[in-house]
Order: sequence, then structure tokens, then C-alpha cells
Amino acid sequence: MRVEPRARCIVLPTVEALAEDAAQRFARAAGDAVHTRGEFVVAFSGGNTPRSLYARLAAPPYASAVPWSEVVVCWGDERCVPPDDAVSNYRMARETLLDHVPIPATQVHRIRGEDDPVAAARAYEQTLRSALRTPQGPPREAPGARIDLVLLGLGDDGHTASLFPGAPVATNGDSWVAAHYVAAVSQWRVTLTPVIINAAAEVLFLVSGASKAAIVRRVLEGPLRPHELPAQLIAPADGRVLWLLDAAAARDLEGQSP
Ligand code: 6PG
Repeated sequence: MRVEPRARCIVLPTVEALAEDAAQRFARAAGDAVHTRGEFVVAFSGGNTPRSLYARLAAPPYASAVPWSEVVVCWGDERCVPPDDAVSNYRMARETLLDHVPIPATQVHRIRGEDDPVAAARAYEQTLRSALRTPQGPPREAPGARIDLVLLGLGDDGHTASLFPGAPVATNGDSWVAAHYVAAVSQWRVTLTPVIINAAAEVLFLVSGASKAAIVRRVLEGPLRPHELPAQLIAPADGRVLWLLDAAAARDLEGQSP
């Protein structure tokens, strides 16, 4: 019996092709949003996978094709470390992209990983609410009131952003940002919650490598178990979620095996 993936997937032959496809989608989304309302709000993912995308965006043709001066950057999650720490998601994005394109510093909203995690999460929620013109209450779908594009990765345990298996933050009420200690990585993390991620105009998962094949299949074709597989919590209301996979990460999906 053929099992349909529960989300739209595009499989690219290599990780380089994946980065190029993602860069084209990023540039198109940015151009459309800036043309429509003069601003593009993007939530960056952390980890390693997005490095190749950020590096591509920092180089021709994207370095000049994207309207960087109208781009507003936030993060889907952050490790609770100083901004110059080797594992900081902010540092990775700054080194691979932000230092190379003309985004005004006032439009780069990093999560203050150096602060007390709970205070940092509370402060970030206010920062995000201000950027999205929604001082209180649930996310709004009005233009300018939601993140235009959320970039996400997938951990081999089914986490995304810093929504880890079994973590209460994954389903905690109406907060937009939460902090929690993640025993699996022995770190405090600050993360956007599904409440605000699922209100985004578009969500783009970038997943590459054979080590992710098994978890990709569990998340996309296995039973719905969002408490165990928080990536299954990501289901934007109007369905704008796309999984960009390289062939190695997609190899266990139905219909992908040679
Ligand atoms: C983080 C990320 C996290 C990441 C996955 C995949 O802060 O680590 O936000 O959710 O996307 O762990 O990481 P890789 O791309 O390194 O496999």
C-alpha cells in the first residue's frame, strides 16, 4: 500500500542542489514580500545543514539579488551560550551570511543566549511581538504580522528548532517563545513554539544526509506521534510547509528506493 508523505517534499540529487533550490526559494520569497509590503521577515535555523544555504546567499547572484536592506532576521532557536560561542546559531549565521550582506543591525534580532534562559525567552517574545506588530494575543495572519519564512532542520531524534521529544515547551499554551533544559544535549535552549511557527506564511525544512533517512521516514510516513516527534507539530494552518531533502535523506521514503 503506497503511503503518501504527510507534507509536500522535493528531493534534490545532492546537498549542493538542495542549497541552490533553497536559495532560489529564499530569494523569491524575499522579493515577493518586499514587493508586496516592503519587508521580509525570516526565521533562521541553526545546526549545520543551513550553512551551505547561508553561504550561497552571501555570494553572487544572491548577494545582490536579495533586497537585504528590507530583510528582518530572527531565529527559530538558540543555544544558551554567548553570541561568540562556537555553537551559537547566531555566530554561525553571522559568519556565513550576515557579515557579508547589508542588513541593518536594527533588523537582526538575535536571541540573547548569554542571558538567563527564561528571561531571554520572555524578552525574545516581546522582540518578536514588536517585529510582528502584535503586542499581545495570538499570532495574526495580517500582512506584516507573521513571519514570512521559517527555516527548519530535523534532528535524528525528530526534534526541530529546539522542540525536543518529550519537552513540555512543544505544546505549552500560547507562548511564542520558550526556554527549557535539554538533557539530550546537556544545554539550555530557547525556541520558537509551534504557536508562532505554524502561523508563518511558509515553512521550509532543509534535511540532508543518509543519517536522517530513518527519521525522515518516521516523521513523514510513520504514525503521528508529535510528543515523540516534535517535527510533526509543524503544520501551518494553510499548509505552506515544504520539505527539501537530498536523495540520501529521502532514500527510505516510499517510492524513493531505487
Ligand atoms: C539547532 C537547530 C536544530 C537543527 C537540527 C538539525 O539549534 O541545532 O535549530 O533544530 O536544525 O538539530 O541539525 P543539523 O542541520 O546540524 O543536522
